[in-house]
Order: sequence, then structure tokens, then C-alpha cells
Amino acid sequence: MSDQLPPTPLTDAVLAALPGARADLERLVRIPSVWALPAHADDVRRSAEAVAELARGAGAADVEVVAADGGAPAVLAHWPAPQGKPTVLLYAHHDVQPTGGDEHWTSPPFEPTERDGRLYGRGAADDKAGVMTHLAVLRAFDGRPPVGVVLFVEGEEESGSPTLPALLAEHRDALASDVIVIADAANPAVDVPALTTTLRGLVDVTVEVAVLERPVHSGVYGGAVPDALTALCRTLASLHDDDGEVAVPGLVHGRSEAPEVDEATYRSDAGLLDGVELIGCGTVPDRTWVKPAAAVLGIDAPAVDEASNVLVPRARAMVSLRLAPGDDATKARAALTAHLEAHVPWGARVTVGSRFGPAEPFRIDATGAAYDAARRTFSRAFGTDAVETGIGGSIPFIAEFARTFPGAAVLVTGVGDPASRWHGIDESLDLGMFGRGVLAEALLLADLAG
Ligand code: BES
Ligand code: MN
Ligand code: MN
Repeated sequence: MSDQLPPTPLTDAVLAALPGARADLERLVRIPSVWALPAHADDVRRSAEAVAELARGAGAADVEVVAADGGAPAVLAHWPAPQGKPTVLLYAHHDVQPTGGDEHWTSPPFEPTERDGRLYGRGAADDKAGVMTHLAVLRAFDGRPPVGVVLFVEGEEESGSPTLPALLAEHRDALASDVIVIADAANPAVDVPALTTTLRGLVDVTVEVAVLERPVHSGVYGGAVPDALTALCRTLASLHDDDGEVAVPGLVHGRSEAPEVDEATYRSDAGLLDGVELIGCGTVPDRTWVKPAAAVLGIDAPAVDEASNVLVPRARAMVSLRLAPGDDATKARAALTAHLEAHVPWGARVTVGSRFGPAEPFRIDATGAAYDAARRTFSRAFGTDAVETGIGGSIPFIAEFARTFPGAAVLVTGVGDPASRWHGIDESLDLGMFGRGVLAEALLLADLAG
């Protein structure tokens, strides 16, 4: 926490709430709430129940676990507004990404472990830290926040929030608010607070290429008959030009005003191997915040160790396309589909499908009273000015919520930092920043109360 900050009842209350919040964060991290893996559906339910229990303990007037048809359980809780005060919606998600192989982790992903001031575990940052930020703030106010609070913690963010529109429609009145605080983003450094003002959108498609009715001898037919994996690779190679710029026509490409990053630091944060070039054009903020990005995230084809001398009849890939702010996800998906279909060689059959609904990109005009309050209070909590930043990731809830409640101010914050390794091996949370993030949000609610 900022050293310059004079003690007040609220700063003392935040300090007092932190050890309990950290213990409860560990409890949540122990639940492997991976909604994307059906085998963990019960864990996601347990995780929602645990969050609901914590909301009750933080003095909510009512707490419900809700779900749309076929959707993940979400937690919806209320702290009624004192007379004349605004209502603030606090958002986070309790589902997490798969571990990527428990054996690769330094300590097991669902056994929270502290090392050098950081708490390691899947979800320790993304986004159980967001869940516990909100709950710690509500506890610091002893369950009586100075504004009305709606706590909404969804359980399928990492799967693209497919049933969120239905859930928002069903609970429209319960979610209505003047300001919304999304605790699911990051700060540029552990001691520099950020207000995120742009997010990219996301379209992901599956592309399946078929050339043969069945596998055939690769020597007998090879040379005249194509194989599906080569056809798929050539199709995928059309996603980029030689500089690594996305080659799908018709997408929005923006320019960022943010200064260029230090390349050595950036390469080391990413873990980029020596000699491997960065791809694309423009500054790194241009490339990662306001321009599209394409990547191949998976392929279904025979594994190398099991491959035999046959031509592969069909193969399938998962292509992920990040969209610049200002782009339209439905149009972009159509452009990507048309591009892939046009680049399949040799008359191979191609089928383009989708795993989940697209996420719209988002741009926030950070002017107005709520943003001023955020800049003031974040700067106080961290002892240094808040910066405006973009992120390359996506949060489907934001555009969906803004569409449902066009009048609300959207504040995107969070307690991740470049070392958090979101979605990767050894995800972690900086515990000092967690404290500053809780203080910042507590000061914000007090400021919004006037
Ligand atoms: N919290 C992340 C987004 C994020 C990542 C913010 C890094 C700040 C820094 C969020 O949970 C996320 O991963 N979103 C998904 C959305 C997708 C499944 C539609 C993403 O971006 O892949
Ligand atoms: Mn997240
Ligand atoms: Mn995530």
C-alpha cells in the first residue's frame, strides 16, 4: 500500500480485511473451476456456492446463484443503496482456464503457494483475485458500503460467456447500476495503477479440411494425392503476410498513442526465445491493443509418435482472431470464414465452424465524474498517477453489459501485472498490489458516494 497515505478508519479497515481476504482467495483457488472442461462442472458449482457464501458473510441483503439454460452458475448479490446514493455493479468471474498440464507447474496449480510476495495458483490472478477484491472491499465497509452494490460474479467468462446475454436479460432489473467496476484486467507494473480504456474482441473458428474418404498408403498414392494436413497448413499460412501482419482483408487496424515498450523487457515477460522475431508492424501497443492478431491454437491430426505411413484424410484446426476496437465481431467472423475458404488449396473440402459466440471489442471514453473519481482514488491508493492503458485480451461481459445499460460508466481495473502469466504455467498474483487494489476500490466507492 502507498506509504504516503495517512491512516483513516477506511485505510485501517482495508488493512484489517486483507489477511482474511487472502485466506479466502486461497480457498477459492483450491477449487478447480474450469467450466470449459465438463468433468469440472461440479467444481464450478462448488466455486459459485463458495462465492455466494462469502457474499452472505460480507453482509449482502440477498444472494442468489443463477444460471441461464445450459450456462454456468453465476453469483448475484445486493447491498441496497443508502438514500440518494448511486449503485455500483462489481464484476468478476470465478471460472478459470485449464492448467495446461499440472506437471509443468512449480507448485500444483490448485494448491495456492506463496513465493517472494506472490501467490501462485490457477485463478490466483485471473480472476479469483478480482472476486476477492470486491469481497474485501465490502468487508472493509463492514457489509454497509456507502453506495448501493450489485455483485455479479459469472462462471463462464473463459468460455466466451455464451449464455450471458440470456442471463442479463433475465436479471436486467437486478443488474441495473450507474457505474460498473470490472476487476479482471491488469496494471502495467505492480506499483502503477491503470484504467483500461480499450479491449480487443475475439472470434474463434474451427477449420476442417478433408481430402480423402480414408487413409491410404503414403508411398503408393503420395505425389499425386494430397494429404489433409498439408492442405490445412497451407490454408493456415494464408492468415499472415511475410511480415507477420494479419492478411485477412476487411478488418479494422488502429494506431495507439501509447509509447513503444522496452523490447528487452517485453521479450523477457513473454518468454520469447533468443533470435525469434516479433511479428507484425507498428509499436507493440499498436500490435497488441488496437490491431488484429491471428493465431492457431490447436490442431487435430495424428500425433507424431502415432503417425504411420498413410496420407491423412482430414485435419482440423482452431484459429483465434483478436479484433481491434471499432471492429464488428460478426463482420470479422464472416471475413475470416471467407478468407479461409478462399485459401484452401487443391479443391480440398473445407468446413468452418465455431466453438463459441464472438466477443465484441470495446473502447471506453474515460471522461466524466466516475472516471475522475477512479483516477483520484487509484492514484491515492498507489501513491502515483493512474495511467490509461489498453489490453490485448477480451472480456465479453463489457460490450454485452454496455449494450444492455448504455448509460452506465464502465471502469475496467484489476490486480494482474505483466508477471501474472494469465492462462499460462505458474499464474500468480502480487500480494502487495492486491492490497493496493482493494484500497483503491474502497476509496473509489467512498468517493462515488460523494
Ligand atoms: N482477464 C482476462 C482478460 C485479460 C487478460 C485482461 C490479460 C487483462 C490482461 C479474461 O479472463 C480473458 O482471458 N478473456 C478471454 C475471453 C475470451 C474467452 C472470449 C480472452 O481474452 O481470451
Ligand atoms: Mn479474467
Ligand atoms: Mn482469462
